[in-house]
Amino acid sequence: MKYRFNDKRDWFFQERFGLFVHWGIYAVEGWHEQLQWRQSIPKAEYVKLKDRFNPTLFNPDEWLDLCEEAGITYLCITAKHHDGFCMWDTKATDYNIMNTPYRQDVLKMLSDACHRRGFRIGFYYSCPDWHQPNSLNFGRHHSLPQPNPGDQPDLLKYIDFVQQQVTELCTNYGTISEFFWDIPQEMNFPQLNETIRRLQPECLINDRGYGPGDYSTPERHIPEGGSFTKPTEACDSVGRCSWGYRRNEDYYLPVAIMRKMDAILSRGGNYLLNVGPKPDGAIPAEAAAILRSIGKWYKTVREAYTAEPFAFEQPVWNATFTRAADGTLYVHFPSGLLATGFELPLDTPPKSVTLLNNGQILQANVELMPSHALQNKQDLHITGIAPEKLLDTVPIIKISW
Ligand code: GLC
Repeated sequence: MKYRFNDKRDWFFQERFGLFVHWGIYAVEGWHEQLQWRQSIPKAEYVKLKDRFNPTLFNPDEWLDLCEEAGITYLCITAKHHDGFCMWDTKATDYNIMNTPYRQDVLKMLSDACHRRGFRIGFYYSCPDWHQPNSLNFGRHHSLPQPNPGDQPDLLKYIDFVQQQVTELCTNYGTISEFFWDIPQEMNFPQLNETIRRLQPECLINDRGYGPGDYSTPERHIPEGGSFTKPTEACDSVGRCSWGYRRNEDYYLPVAIMRKMDAILSRGGNYLLNVGPKPDGAIPAEAAAILRSIGKWYKTVREAYTAEPFAFEQPVWNATFTRAADGTLYVHFPSGLLATGFELPLDTPPKSVTLLNNGQILQANVELMPSHALQNKQDLHITGIAPEKLLDTVPIIKISW
């Protein structure tokens, strides 16, 4: 992972764990952020949700306290999702947060708190828009089954609208660190990314917009292969079914998230973990508990991810590796460590071997193991692990010479 931008966007390679936030008027129903499309709700009906959106418990500091506990340093929140509802005080449409009973610019409140407390903030912005009358209905996935009554599709007018909104988002909220377009419309409008670049030099732009971006965005899966060859931010959610708040969500076990997170971080990618706040503005207790468990683990093993991805010539049993410039090796067990010891193809006795998860010092011996005896090669045999204590975590072992 030796690539760098060599400019202000390089924060991305230091700050590796972000919070994705899907929050909008869909939270009122607590079903899915694409409720309007997936349940074919007519626009005239759907818009009424905004009259019920009143997040009186929204407290950006509570969100950030949770981020601190999780070890998260940047956030990316839905400014506008596919439903077209805008979570800020936009002048481009009335369909926005100022016209809910809440009447406060939540993006402003959140970005102010982030800047005050040293968190980075970025915005998610959907290319499809199921509300703006000029937006085009392409008749494919993520398009409403029929255009809305009264629509006046006009691509250039829609792009002007997007341009106006991008300018607002990049002007009125201080430093913006990430711009997350979604659902590419396979069209090139370079002026949009140019506007972001001109107004926000620290901002990385993803690859789902109207032109080439800075980083790729694998979603809810681990790409095949080894170390990433371009800047990557994988996104995933604490729950299986939805990104927005879902009353009946199927939440993942924290260890399931740790496994995916380890796979991404150890290959040089960033991890953006999503929560869907409730309509009252609070992060669901289940999601908060998951973030806290992840944080306890992440803070003990984090140093392993500042090292570069590494691989031995031959794969080693269940393990992946990162290695620091001084040779310190981190052995990751993303699918668990289910024995009391393991061996590595190394023959220099280390100075120390530590299980990062709990600080336990492990035994290490260079010895002839059955596996490589025929080649007459010694291995580094690490022992003394208590695997029964590691079932709910991703163990990482640090070896220093
Ligand atoms: C998908 C979904 C969308 C979600 C996004 C997160 O593109 O359409 O609802 O916001 O993934 O990456």
